[in-house]
Amino acid sequence: MPSRSRTRLRLAGVLAAVLVAAGVATGPAAQAHEKKPATLADLAQRHGRYFGSATDNPELTDTAYTRILGHEFDMITPGNGMKWYATEPQQGVFDFSQGDEIVNLARANHQKVRAHTLVWHSQLPGWLTSREWTADELRAVLKKHIQTEVRHYRGKVYAWDVVNEAFNEDGTYRETIFYKTLGPGYIADALRWAHQADPKAKLYLNDYNVEAIGPKSDAYYRLVKELKAQGVPLHGFGLQAHLALQYGYPTTLEDNLRRFARLGLDTALTEVDVRMLLPATEEKLAQQADWYRDMTEACLAVRRCVGITVWDYTDKYSWIPAFFPGQGAALPWDEQLAPKPAYHAIREALRAPR
Ligand code: G3I
Repeated sequence: MPSRSRTRLRLAGVLAAVLVAAGVATGPAAQAHEKKPATLADLAQRHGRYFGSATDNPELTDTAYTRILGHEFDMITPGNGMKWYATEPQQGVFDFSQGDEIVNLARANHQKVRAHTLVWHSQLPGWLTSREWTADELRAVLKKHIQTEVRHYRGKVYAWDVVNEAFNEDGTYRETIFYKTLGPGYIADALRWAHQADPKAKLYLNDYNVEAIGPKSDAYYRLVKELKAQGVPLHGFGLQAHLALQYGYPTTLEDNLRRFARLGLDTALTEVDVRMLLPATEEKLAQQADWYRDMTEACLAVRRCVGITVWDYTDKYSWIPAFFPGQGAALPWDEQLAPKPAYHAIREALRAPR
């Protein structure tokens, strides 16, 4: 053998040894590695999107559950742990332990965090709801809450749902404690305060029943235009997408995503689930799978739809049965953590070339 070839062979051997030592597999092991099925996160990333799940602190002791949570997704949202009742249980006394647990878990799994939520009428602490506030008092309380929490998570979260569920179904403002005391300007204030506390976080408005074009999403469309015209820091619109088979699919979803993109916003499907009247039948599960596929395709079709989050990934931990008795089976994994037709439908949509 000519000496140059021998040298090359030796170098190849050395390179292989270095790769093996560095944990980079070569040969048959590498082929086996390549055959490992891509996760939802892997598939979404091929489109420049993320695929996320909500989770909640009590579930984190379930190791079969956390294995899938840590593996299949690249974005995590705390379902409850960052809400006001959890983070400021007494006025001025902050507790970030639940949110921190989820942020740390996400970090260990190389996942990002969509943080949820700063200003919402629900799950507020008793000290806040049990007395009257003047506008000046409430403005100071709100500013302190937002800035303390956002500062705590500065650099650790990708996005914040700053204001959640601000509108009624008919597009009028929801008469929350914030609206009633501060007027509609509380939304712009909340966004400005959050931006001061973490200038890099993407700031979202987020709501349900806004997937289709209609009075409620129109109200957001108008508000976003106004806020943008005023230079208010707003980067995204979150469509929760809590759907129900019995109410029909929001066929204008893609057009709706597109009109918000044209206003210069990112959009995201932030709390996806598709509930059904129980018992779940093969037909209903097939229809549910179609809806998950359609939603995924709608997001992929609109460049600024940045990702999809399911509102937890398994029926084992869904909020639905407790809130809508007789309904459920809303998520892509069943109560035994086995993938359902919806899971495979999402994969198909994500696998299609674009
Ligand atoms: O913490 C208490 C616990 O001490 C008690 O033993 C237990 C008994 O019911 O209740 C626990 O509180 C529950 C809490 O979740 C934490 O598990 C509340 O009852 C329950 O109402 C609460 O539900 C949450 C719901 O928001 C409240 O509106 C769901 O887990 C959460 O998934 C859901 O998430 C919301 C989003 O934030 C906004 N969009 C809608 C979505 C679904 O409602």
